[in-house]
Amino acid sequence: MRRLFVTTALPYANGPFHIGHIMEYIQADVWVRFQRMQGHEVHFVGADDAHGAPIMLKAEAEGLTPEQLVARITADRPRHLNGFHISFDNWHSTDSAENVELSQNIYRALSAAGLVRREPVEQFFDPVKGMFLADRYVKGECPKCGAKDQYGDACEVCGSVYAPTELREPRSTLTGATPVRRVSDHYFFRLSDPRCVAFLREWLATPGRLQPQVANKAREWLEAKGGEPLADWDISRDAPYFGIPIPDAPGKYLYVWLDAPIGYLASLKHYCARTGRDFQALLADPRTEQIHFIGKDIIYFHTLFWPAMLRFSGHKVPDHVWVHGFITVSGAKMSKSRGTGLSPLRYLELGMNPEWLRYYIAAKLNANVEDLDFNPDDFIARVNSDLVGKYVNIASRAAGFITKRFGGEVLPVEAGRSAGTAAWLALAEAAGERIRGHYEEREFGKAMREIMELADRMNEAIDREKPWELAKDPAQSRRLHEVCSDCLEAFRRLTLLLAPVLPHTAGRAAAMLGLPLPLRWSQLREPLSGRIQPYEHLMQRVDPKQLEALFELPAPEKPGTAAAAPAAAQAPGTPRAAARIGIEDFAKLDLRVAKVLTAEAVEGSSKLLRLTLDLGGEERQVFSGIRAAYEPQALVGRLVIVVANLEPRRMRFGVSEGMVLCAGDDTSGIYLLSADSGAAPGMRVT
Ligand code: 2FM
Ligand code: ZN
Repeated sequence: MRRLFVTTALPYANGPFHIGHIMEYIQADVWVRFQRMQGHEVHFVGADDAHGAPIMLKAEAEGLTPEQLVARITADRPRHLNGFHISFDNWHSTDSAENVELSQNIYRALSAAGLVRREPVEQFFDPVKGMFLADRYVKGECPKCGAKDQYGDACEVCGSVYAPTELREPRSTLTGATPVRRVSDHYFFRLSDPRCVAFLREWLATPGRLQPQVANKAREWLEAKGGEPLADWDISRDAPYFGIPIPDAPGKYLYVWLDAPIGYLASLKHYCARTGRDFQALLADPRTEQIHFIGKDIIYFHTLFWPAMLRFSGHKVPDHVWVHGFITVSGAKMSKSRGTGLSPLRYLELGMNPEWLRYYIAAKLNANVEDLDFNPDDFIARVNSDLVGKYVNIASRAAGFITKRFGGEVLPVEAGRSAGTAAWLALAEAAGERIRGHYEEREFGKAMREIMELADRMNEAIDREKPWELAKDPAQSRRLHEVCSDCLEAFRRLTLLLAPVLPHTAGRAAAMLGLPLPLRWSQLREPLSGRIQPYEHLMQRVDPKQLEALFELPAPEKPGTAAAAPAAAQAPGTPRAAARIGIEDFAKLDLRVAKVLTAEAVEGSSKLLRLTLDLGGEERQVFSGIRAAYEPQALVGRLVIVVANLEPRRMRFGVSEGMVLCAGDDTSGIYLLSADSGAAPGMRVT
């Protein structure tokens, strides 16, 4: 029996899960459920990654303490995790007593090993905020090409890389203040130490530990610059910072990326305390396999920093780090903070079956670091054809006859009852072993293909046997009974093979077939017998309308307004993120300041106001759906923002020649955007 300690990357506690998180959890969960079915001991834990400047600043902007913000985000996690059947044994937080203790102990151990050094560092400091500024909080002109509004680390226009202190006209993005240079002591983890380099070389060279492309990438970083050692890692941040205090260093905190992976251990520790297990023993046991599932953007941290931190603080090192690619939606990349257009919460709120998504993702996953594309048409086709048309269909074609004609009794399968059944059982026998291998190797796509091939063969056999014809002839009753029993035996096996992906459906199928729970892989060899429960339909087809609703634009068509109104079911304050666009897309919009000349209610419409707008020497008529929110007279003379190059729209009441911008949603109302005084009609918004 194996003992597995499995984790997924800890999500920042500054927003709800996006589809990228859910994809990773589904991947790990399928693997974990498969291992549990093998009878292995699995400890599968996650946690919120709570620390760091962005969370501190976001909390401040919302008038909350960081702890309050994190608590709010954490409270929302179970909805998603349960919703998608993710079977974590524990969920914790890096802002926890366990993590403070573990992180400070690891820091002390590294320090005692002579692997921490202190060095003064000059950095930009925001004198208004009283805070050192990370690169992303400084903007200015590129020192190379002069492009304006570039971040402190690299220029998006000419691609050059520089220090923030090299920017021309630098300013703090937090306050707009001109930052000043200030020196402060920082603590560095000595990755350049020959002990670290030697250890990492060996760790990376262990066969089977990492996917080959991941090991190669990490080796490239390790051996970069022609044999020069890895740069030391700055692991400290100055107050104010939401993090873990560095022992004996007042005002200094551990950088979030140091305490984040330690959160894996903190969650395990919390889980052990909760379940009466010995944390130290479990973690240190050479039999415990420590396995981290992560995305390709955080390989560096997990294959260099993390193993070295563990090794030199006297811990066991990770056995595997399994890396997956990103998820794209119809080919479009996802933004880490805004997600894609596919909101997991909306998916659940629309009542879409979580197992459709689990199956679709499993069917497209392999063990490589490849991106996976969610394509709505492909999703509908695969789910409907594979799950409903192939798998569930086998049960629905046979179970009714067994219940109605034979009192629910199945005949024990006897290989050789018919040539077809014997052949199918032999196929299934051989495929079962291969499918087990595919799950183990995280080649879920291959596993799903083999399972669906088995389902195809069985459906072909049913088409040949034609139980619906046999049912018409009383002399064929025995044959009908055999054929339908064979079908249910096939369905039973397919259910076991799919159980890691479809735990809920497998549970319902098991109840119908009378299989003992929890389901085990070894049950593949225990043929069906006895009486079944009446069949209840196991899975609906995907309705294409659900996909339309899932990807509905955040701004539903409202004549004359662009209110960013999310669906009514969505919690206020969390509109779904639209796909990321380039600056050239934004530049296509001709946004103008306009002055409201007249405003009146539109007869025959409860929603619309007719506005006449001055766009600086040009008058336009625009219909705007803001009647519920504004008295027409109150609008006259106001400055608003208009999309001036929108195709004119013919409406029942006349032509609308533009769109007035608003913020808001269906629950909190609609709010016009306006320009500060001094702006003049016709001015371009850039
Ligand atoms: O990249 C991220 O989203 C990080 N919050 C992942 C942390 S993984 C682990 F180290 F905690
Ligand atoms: Zn530049």
